[in-house]
Amino acid sequence: MNALVAVAVAFWTMLPAYVPNNAAVLAGGGRPIDGGRVWHGRRVLGDGKTWRGTAVGVLAGAALALLLDAVQPAVSGALGVPLPGFPPVVAVTLPLGAMLGDILASFLKRRTGRERGAAFPLLDQLDFVVVALLLTALAAPGWFRDTFTLLVVAVVLVLTPVLHLLTNGVAYLLGLKDEPY
Ligand code: CTP
Ligand code: MG
Repeated sequence: MNALVAVAVAFWTMLPAYVPNNAAVLAGGGRPIDGGRVWHGRRVLGDGKTWRGTAVGVLAGAALALLLDAVQPAVSGALGVPLPGFPPVVAVTLPLGAMLGDILASFLKRRTGRERGAAFPLLDQLDFVVVALLLTALAAPGWFRDTFTLLVVAVVLVLTPVLHLLTNGVAYLLGLKDEPY
């Protein structure tokens, strides 16, 4: 697999894990997951992790995975690139893992004294990728091995922080997000 193909496969495959964060920004609000609870003087997760944002994020990512799966033969053929399809279990684990990773990161941020919205470089950019990949590897090991070659994983780890900063920067400029990270 050459580098350009690896970039195409990495981007395509991770789309259902990328979209949930952005959908959550648009849909967020309402009851926080931690219900306002405090642990050792700090919020467990904070007001930035809500039930609505999480649910809409997972649903948006899963819907996108099903859509991509439906158009996969056509897109693969048109580009001449062997893009993977998305089995139903993967359509759930990619967005669910992404949201869980983001929630875990907020938990760690609160434990380390960072207020809601504070930056935690690299954790902010990679939390959702790591848990999305782990959950998917556990739930669909065969598909994971076939899809995520070492080269594709390496591309994901480089490409994701760049895309994350770009999309969050745009969301910030559009006034959708309070911080550009
Ligand atoms: N959001 C949500 N539910 C989630 C994730 C995000 O409702 N599970 C919404 C919230 O409105 C949040 C916004 O998306 O403020 C931006 O997400 P993020 O940057 O992850 O949260 P922060 O507010 O920065 O909080 P934290 O410091 O905990 O990351
Ligand atoms: Mg944030």
